[in-house]
Amino acid sequence: MSFEINRLELVWPGKYDEDGNLIIEPEARLPFQIVERVKQTRATREAREKRVATLFDIWDGNNEPTPTEDDFKNKLIWGDNKLVMESLLDNFSGKIKLIYIDPPFAVGSDFALEVEIGNDEILKESSIIEEVAYRDTWGKGNDSYIKMIHSRLKLIHQLLAEDGALFLHCDYRTSSLTRIILDEIFGTDSYRNEIIWRKTNSPKFQSTGLGNQYDSIFVYSKSDKSKFSKVFRPFDEKSLKPYSYEDERGKYRLIEIEAQGVQRSPNRKQFEFKGRVAPYLYNINQLNEWDQNGMIYESGGGRFSKKQYLADMEGVLVSDLWVDDGVSPLQGSKPEVTGYPTQKPESLLERVIKFASNEGDLVADFFCGSGTTLAVAERLGRKWIGTDLGRFAIHTCRKRLLQIENCRPFEILNLGNYERQYWSNISFGEDLDEDGKISLLEYIAFILKLYGATAISGAIYLHGKMKSAFVHVGSVSSPVTVKEIEMCIDETIALQGKELHVLGWEWEMGLIDTLTDFAKAKGIKLIALQIPREVMEAEAARKGQIKFFELSYLESEITKDKNGNYFCTLTDFMIPNSELISPEVRKRVTKWSDYVDYWAVDWDFKNDTFMPKWMDYRTKRDRTLKLKTSPEKIDKPGTYKVMVKVVDIFGNDTTKVLELKVK
Ligand SMILES: C[S@@+](CC[C@H](N)C(=O)[O-])C[C@H]1O[C@@H](n2cnc3c(N)ncnc32)[C@H](O)[C@@H]1O
Repeated sequence: MSFEINRLELVWPGKYDEDGNLIIEPEARLPFQIVERVKQTRATREAREKRVATLFDIWDGNNEPTPTEDDFKNKLIWGDNKLVMESLLDNFSGKIKLIYIDPPFAVGSDFALEVEIGNDEILKESSIIEEVAYRDTWGKGNDSYIKMIHSRLKLIHQLLAEDGALFLHCDYRTSSLTRIILDEIFGTDSYRNEIIWRKTNSPKFQSTGLGNQYDSIFVYSKSDKSKFSKVFRPFDEKSLKPYSYEDERGKYRLIEIEAQGVQRSPNRKQFEFKGRVAPYLYNINQLNEWDQNGMIYESGGGRFSKKQYLADMEGVLVSDLWVDDGVSPLQGSKPEVTGYPTQKPESLLERVIKFASNEGDLVADFFCGSGTTLAVAERLGRKWIGTDLGRFAIHTCRKRLLQIENCRPFEILNLGNYERQYWSNISFGEDLDEDGKISLLEYIAFILKLYGATAISGAIYLHGKMKSAFVHVGSVSSPVTVKEIEMCIDETIALQGKELHVLGWEWEMGLIDTLTDFAKAKGIKLIALQIPREVMEAEAARKGQIKFFELSYLESEITKDKNGNYFCTLTDFMIPNSELISPEVRKRVTKWSDYVDYWAVDWDFKNDTFMPKWMDYRTKRDRTLKLKTSPEKIDKPGTYKVMVKVVDIFGNDTTKVLELKVK
């Protein structure tokens, strides 16, 4: 086959099919589920109560306020950003003013990180979903990275407003490739800047070549309508030096008004100003106006310059070279440090956000990590959307936002349902084909066998049976969702079953406990079990040493004091696979509460979205945690559902619903 090459373009394996057609991956439009509404006021909640309560609150895109409306809720979304952005397209295409992304570089596993336990730190391994994402991104080195970033940038381009701009943060490892992809998607005319940001004050001594001290931030605008504000940094000793002249209006420096060097081309028009003919950079009206205002300085040789008064300057105009102290690298001692390994300084994002957006604009970060963009957008009065695939990242963002004074209410969402085409293959045990993969059916059969169940056919959601219980096997690349379990419950009822076991790697946030009650009301005993990582170890799988664990569980109780105040106390918490945590780490855990990083209570859970009224959490600086809530006054008699949510130190959440009768 031959085809004509008529433009500059970066090509990688898998970009085109055999006939030279661009391979277009299917676009998902998946529903979002709101799992938590943080800092929601009671008034908003009461307005919502008038609506019919569903078991779980599905995000209703049709009734979503637009980002320009006051009741738009900022959003923190857990999930793969490709699926998330595709699912945001219907509501947010052309609506986002500024997108900043800082995609991971190939630096080992992106998701394994140190988490704090008591006063120590332990390594949190990647989850299987994170590992799949990591392999998709880096499995084939730059080829897979480029494929990943190409699909994301196409979506970002659609989501950006006509006057919007993208800031893409990268380093020498990916900058050359990324720039070409950006040119392809945005167009070379949309290139605005490459910001050079000094990321470290001193290069590594062990560097073999010249040590690397900077990252690049590419700025691309959606169209020529994009507007940027001038950004200034404070004067320092060096930048004040040129202001060595002084008159009755104060200190000033001189600015050239004649073209110099390469600007002084023979084609440049020359004209006369105050008796001197020269190639001026400004038109005669402007020059005359300055002259009338006493702002023209005449130097010895009959040449003229403009006086730039210090008092008229907000600071030093910032260029594309960001090496000043205003955006210095993040130092460990700063209060903003969350412990997230790739966290960027807030001052950097502040400069970006002030430069490219105004108060009230919508700002997004689809690789939000510890939430630097979101925290700064919140402080600067911008609306925001943040997405990350890491559960721990989402949890870090939640805590970080909560610490901001007067933080506006925000929602935490996840994708509420996945479709089978989004299940990806991964190698398990030894049943691999030559690509190191097994098919979906083989994967399900393999997990069923390890669980001791036999496969069944004919059902849609149920995959196997163990004694009289039906078994459903969750996907490798997406969490088990509430919707998925609801479908399994319906199918179990249709097949006249009484018990359902759901095996999963990861779970939609919270609500499993609520689902157990929901299944019970329908006459089904529901057991949710964690698939352990050992499944991937051939040796353990062969020996049949695989143990499936029930999900975490928590105990809490409600008490009342003599003044009629209610209190909720967390009395126990167990993570399912503590047996899998290394013995050295387990030794450091002195009490069950060491596993708890955050817990919160919704005193009036309405079977929809968790809206905590009280919460406590550990921070980097303050590792203490209260185990009893502050007093809650409940005057209206009735039966209340009190929902308690615990997020453990690995970012996983567990919920429990208690019943409270108020007379
Ligand atoms: C370099 S970090 C971002 C750090 C962030 N700028 C900050 O200041 O904390 C990259 C983030 O991208 C996330 N990530 C990687 N692949 C992703 C994907 N496919 N979808 C969503 N997030 C992803 C990782 O979990 C990680 O938190």
